[in-house]
Amino acid sequence: MKLTRRTLLATSAAATLLPRSVFAQTALTLTAVEGSQHIAPEGYPDTNIWGYEGGVPGPTIRAKQGETVVREFVNKLPQGSSVHWHGVRIDNAMDGVVGLTQDAVASGQSMRYDFVAPDAGTYWYHPHNRTWEQMARGLYGPLIIEETTPPDVDQDEVFLIDDWRLTQEAAIDESFEQAMDWSHGGRIGNWVTANGKAPFDHPVKLNERIRLRLINVANSRIFELGIEGLEGVSVALDGQPLDKPMAVDRISLAPAQRMDLIVDVTAQEGQQGALVLRGGDQDYQLVRFPVAGMARPARMAPPAPLPANPVPVLGDLQSARRFDLLMEGGAMGQMRQAMVDGEMRDARSLASDGQFWALNGVAGLPEAPLLVAERGETIIVRIINDTAFAHAMHLHGFHFRTLGADGSQGPLRDTVLVERTETVEIAFVADNPGDWLFHCHMLEHTAAGMLTWIEVT
Ligand code: C2O
Ligand code: CU
Repeated sequence: MKLTRRTLLATSAAATLLPRSVFAQTALTLTAVEGSQHIAPEGYPDTNIWGYEGGVPGPTIRAKQGETVVREFVNKLPQGSSVHWHGVRIDNAMDGVVGLTQDAVASGQSMRYDFVAPDAGTYWYHPHNRTWEQMARGLYGPLIIEETTPPDVDQDEVFLIDDWRLTQEAAIDESFEQAMDWSHGGRIGNWVTANGKAPFDHPVKLNERIRLRLINVANSRIFELGIEGLEGVSVALDGQPLDKPMAVDRISLAPAQRMDLIVDVTAQEGQQGALVLRGGDQDYQLVRFPVAGMARPARMAPPAPLPANPVPVLGDLQSARRFDLLMEGGAMGQMRQAMVDGEMRDARSLASDGQFWALNGVAGLPEAPLLVAERGETIIVRIINDTAFAHAMHLHGFHFRTLGADGSQGPLRDTVLVERTETVEIAFVADNPGDWLFHCHMLEHTAAGMLTWIEVT
């Protein structure tokens, strides 16, 4: 009998375990394709973008914690691509890193991604090939893994914050490979959006409780955000619940970082709340929350922490193996030379190939991993930023904790901002076998040399 989705459902009561291929037939597709959308301010024309299903952001993929996510990725773009499921502690073969875990999915080809999402939280997906160009053109989308028992909220909303570089005709500025960007702070744009739109209204009610999932999907810009007319706590960072919810005052998100907030609408009827961008002369409203009606007469009790995910607990830090990661290069840096493909080159020759940064003296993906960990081992990496720029270091496949000088441990994260001249120590349990990329998520920096990898056996 050939199983279709219908017969599968009809017989499921009697069925035992079915082979995977049966499910595979019903896989949903995720198509990367050119599209057109209004992104710029009113009065400007639509922008040609690259998007999943032709839109920015791509569709929200939702699954329950522990469920299998299956998507047939179809590449209709004019260049090779892939899908990386950012922040998911995933099977290495599904990590989507072209040049490390897979080949590019060529134009016109497809690839099935099939993985279990072990942790609830806010994640996202994006390409991992020519990422600096493909993400600047609009390729990204949210991946929401729901708790078995989600917190009690009235609305659960995702806002992907992006920084676009548009021409005066509202086209994507195609200067993706400017030495000026690659050697400085990356491609910084001239137009910031939430969910690919000019500022828009999102209606709410007084005392309504909203879960806000904020994701920085910009190539390189660090966002300082704030909320107005909404009060509450942050409950998760980079998908992982905080042990204790924290009062929200300043929301700083480096590229790829996320924050989940649970807030109540405190702006009165007829007024409006807002999600604002800070850092300019004036706060800029990305999303307006006009208040119409009342959800309940008073605010709800403060939310409980989200249930912890099954992330392994750090082992003994005294006996953990330690590694150094030295970041060098960039404009105003001291780097004189670095290795590329096993060859020592001086800074000028590196620059002529668009390589401006090095990790432990190597520009670009090194032949040998930064470290080889035994499965289950606790590893400490000291990240030393000897450059004049901040870097958003992202480790694939794991969440780590920062270690304070006093021995304190920070919250679980998958991306940490290392400020200029700062040193940050991170520790994680290497429980997931495979080859895992470790790079700056400022995409021009990745492109210009700032990437390495670790191996877990
Ligand atoms: Cu958002 Cu290498 O990833
Ligand atoms: Cu960087």
